Amino acid sequence: MPFPENFITELVDRSDIVDVVSGYVRLSKRSGANLFGLCPFHSEKTPSFSVSPDKQIYHCFGCGKGGGVISFIMEIENLTFPEAVEFLARRAGMPVPEQTDDRESRRRERMLALNREAARWFYAQLSTPAGQSAGAYMAKRRISPATAKTFGLGCAPDGWDGLLRAMEQKGFTGKELFDAGLARRGKNGGYYDVFRNRLMFPVIDVRGNVIGFSGRILGDGEPKYMNSPETPVFNKSRNLFALNLAKKSKSGYIILSEGNIDVVSLHQAGFDSAVASLGTSLTPEQARLISRYTDQVIIAYDNDGAGVKAAQRAIGILEKLDLRVKVLRMSGAKDPDEFIQTKGPEAFRKLLEASENQVDYRLRSVTDKYDLTVDEQKVDFLKEATDLVARLPGAVERQVYAMRVASLAGIGADAVTAEVERRRKRLLSRARSDGERQQTRPERQAQPPDKDLRYADPSSAAAEEGLIRLLYLDPALGRSPELPPAEDFSSEALGHIYAAVRARIDAGSAVSTASLSEALTLQEMSLLVSILQKPELLSSGERALNDYIEKIRERKRLRAGSSDLRALAESLRERKGFKGKDV
Ligand code: CTP
Ligand code: MN
Repeated sequence: MPFPENFITELVDRSDIVDVVSGYVRLSKRSGANLFGLCPFHSEKTPSFSVSPDKQIYHCFGCGKGGGVISFIMEIENLTFPEAVEFLARRAGMPVPEQTDDRESRRRERMLALNREAARWFYAQLSTPAGQSAGAYMAKRRISPATAKTFGLGCAPDGWDGLLRAMEQKGFTGKELFDAGLARRGKNGGYYDVFRNRLMFPVIDVRGNVIGFSGRILGDGEPKYMNSPETPVFNKSRNLFALNLAKKSKSGYIILSEGNIDVVSLHQAGFDSAVASLGTSLTPEQARLISRYTDQVIIAYDNDGAGVKAAQRAIGILEKLDLRVKVLRMSGAKDPDEFIQTKGPEAFRKLLEASENQVDYRLRSVTDKYDLTVDEQKVDFLKEATDLVARLPGAVERQVYAMRVASLAGIGADAVTAEVERRRKRLLSRARSDGERQQTRPERQAQPPDKDLRYADPSSAAAEEGLIRLLYLDPALGRSPELPPAEDFSSEALGHIYAAVRARIDAGSAVSTASLSEALTLQEMSLLVSILQKPELLSSGERALNDYIEKIRERKRLRAGSSDLRALAESLRERKGFKGKDV
């Protein structure tokens, strides 16, 4: 364990869960001891996220996420266990003990140091003869030296080992460059530079670390971009290009565009809140990251079919996080960079101001699909458009857009409104019956909130859950000699939680969400907390313990029996040469 136990205990004592969570969620008191708020991990309109000041845990009845204060920070700030501990320590004003024995974090730090040195070297090349090619290309794209400095842009010169040699002189090995995605291995076993003759964009995370690189070819040619591969410090789907700069913007919104060049050009023109996803379509993790800094996103994607499709997808992802989404309507240029270069920053600001809210945008996209002078197409248009309107949450909003649809199709507003409400009723009743079905089906009820952890044997799992709950609440019961080994559990996740709890009890340590959050994944932590929500009568703890143990044994015998039978049938089949027929 990298951190001493009493350090973690003190840290958790000094990080009250209500205080910490309140930094992200508005909590209010309802009946009982718990506080409630809107869950930050899924989108909802009524609060199902609860925080217990007594137990120092949080739990969402909607999405099933839960844990202690450390898990909360891991989940919401997207951090590993040691990072979350450091984060909380900083917040509580506690010095973090040295963790020199942690090999993984040393390796990460070394890779970050290498990336930083590499970025410096690429930048420094711009003022050497070898960097003239990239300098000229930047001038052609009208990227100023000041902008290059802000972004730390640089040049990977034409050659095979410029970076490699420079980094070796700084004490890094070829293997280290290879691991960081900066070098490749040649046939003779030596290394050579990955990025050659390219304009370099360092990717910098919100904490200021250089985590990877994008390199653009100087002019036309393929591949246009080369990007760092996934490394221990670089995860494309969890980072955004230029968020390190955009997060400081005072504009109140984030501009989401597609290209690195667009972002650079936007910042240069004064739009300092532009970011881009790193050559992938927007991911939910990236959206979550954005939502930490703003509640409004303006999508400024390329002005082509792919851009429109990507915008539709991005809208769906951003809306789930309750972000206000607008979409820029650009014409006469293929992307924001070209627009600014040809029409100027002022024209772009006008576009921003005129950007449509996402309902307008989606309605227009539906409209553009059909020729409304053809009756047949008009019918299809009405189907799609009324479906869109029926899904809007506000009654006034539905009315306004129903009228818009009616005037687009040239038919009466009443007919459209009636159709919208009819569709809405159908949607609602379908959603309701889905919900009821979930509640009345017993085997569903016994399943964990997280579908990935589905129980193969719900009846054994219920007893396994019970056993974990008992041990957690009353660790003294952990001395029972009857306790089954974790291998007897039917669910791997429950077995893992059980083993972690028992390990703490056997070591004579405290059992708490904080002390378990290092051994458990966030998924398992959520499962544990949801198990703890269910009632348990401690007064008859020993009897319950024995019942649970008995149940787990019985189910194990049954499972073994059925798999023995299956094995027997299998071997008979083979011996008799049966094929494809059940015995
Ligand atoms: N991209 C990539 N690999 C490619 C092409 C593109 O990773 N072969 C990513 C890059 O992050 C790029 C973004 O997708 O910035 C958008 O691509 P594109 O519009 O082609 O690039 P721009 O940066 O806008 O460059 P330019 O304006 O010069 O076309
Ligand atoms: Mn582009």
